[in-house]
Amino acid sequence: MSETTLFICKSCHRSSAEVPTNEPCDGAILLEKISNLCENHESLMELKIKSVGCLWACSRGCVVAVSSLKKPTWLFVDIKADETIDENTTALLEFTQLYINSRKGNVPWEKVPEVLQSAIFAQIPSVLNHENLD
Ligand code: FES
Repeated sequence: MSETTLFICKSCHRSSAEVPTNEPCDGAILLEKISNLCENHESLMELKIKSVGCLWACSRGCVVAVSSLKKPTWLFVDIKADETIDENTTALLEFTQLYINSRKGNVPWEKVPEVLQSAIFAQIPSVLNHENLD
């Protein structure tokens, strides 16, 4: 089983144009919430969580990517860190578990948690698994 990484942009902020001084960005809030949830989630212990400065979809924050060496990378946008954060983080971890359990990283549309179905921005084939490109 190859290692799975959840990349979370710590710089995204969508609740206002500017981040108020001394307040964390929405991305940082999302990162902390997911990190805390994973610590108590035995089946996700092998999941690596990595904060990144930007995932290049800044106007669609918060932005998160799920990636593994031999599987496609899924990029999610518009993940809110507001009062719906519990629902969004639960959905992201549910999707990640399906991804980890899948042999090729393909999660059927109907199994993607509903809150994430409109948040899928891209599915990028693994560069190590070129048969996915056919
Ligand atoms: S600031 Fe988050 S994607 Fe660029």
